Amino acid sequence: MTITIDLEPLSEAVGMAVRGVDLRETLDDSTQDDLRDLFAKECVLCFPDQDITAEDQRRFAAIFGRVDTGNRGNSKKDLKKAATRGEMLVTNIRENGKPIGSLPDGEMQFHSDGAHRQVPYRATTLYGIRIPSTGGNTMFANLQAAYDALSPEIKGRIDELQTQTVYDYEAQNRSTIGSDPDLPRAQHALVKTHPVTGRKSLYLSRLMTEKILDMDHDDSETLLAELFDHAEKPEFVYSHKWTPGDLVIWDNRSTNHARTDFPPEEQRLLRRYTISDPDAPLAN
Ligand code: SIN
Repeated sequence: MTITIDLEPLSEAVGMAVRGVDLRETLDDSTQDDLRDLFAKECVLCFPDQDITAEDQRRFAAIFGRVDTGNRGNSKKDLKKAATRGEMLVTNIRENGKPIGSLPDGEMQFHSDGAHRQVPYRATTLYGIRIPSTGGNTMFANLQAAYDALSPEIKGRIDELQTQTVYDYEAQNRSTIGSDPDLPRAQHALVKTHPVTGRKSLYLSRLMTEKILDMDHDDSETLLAELFDHAEKPEFVYSHKWTPGDLVIWDNRSTNHARTDFPPEEQRLLRRYTISDPDAPLAN
């Protein structure tokens, strides 16, 4: 039996709320097809009021590609525990002073998961479990709309450019990204074409795009600053205020995300699985 899905835009910028689907169930093929189509078009989907286990979340994630199984923890013990399951806890909860998960505290600038990899994560799923009373929103920037809004002159200037991306595990804003040559880095086209929809988007972010290749350093910084500011304009951004039970999936090829600050004395706990292209190298 095919279920009836109820849709409501999350914002004018990007995203759709999807109701009528119980993610504890195995969804039939036709519903899975519908969700894949919807995801390709909308880039961010939120399924409110879900009461799901890690296994339910993995099964849901598998609709959209290969669920990553690599290390996702902070501590050695945690790494071992999560290694084969690919689960990552995004949380500021600490035991004996050490975070029990990753990305614990405060604001994070716009980034795209896996941009430091030559084949980035296709998508990320995040499930809200404990949410602070204020702040800790995840903001999504629509990079397709941002690209479309550029002038033909800028499009012509950037269409063939390549960038170097980096992931510094310690950095939550651009000014603290380290220059350590051992940090994971990759090279990417600054403008990418979505493999499903054929839509073009910017592919850059304040936290992970280090420089434009084959360009003078100052020129690269100037152009990047201009493009970061453009891609983060309010008309392209949706700020998701979490409610426990929200399951959000976003496309890392067509959106960036960021996090707003939240009170450090309040607990924030979300569960994350990433999804890769089936033929991508295994994530670690
Ligand atoms: C992330 O960047 O994957 C986490 C976002 C968040 O904590 O809201």
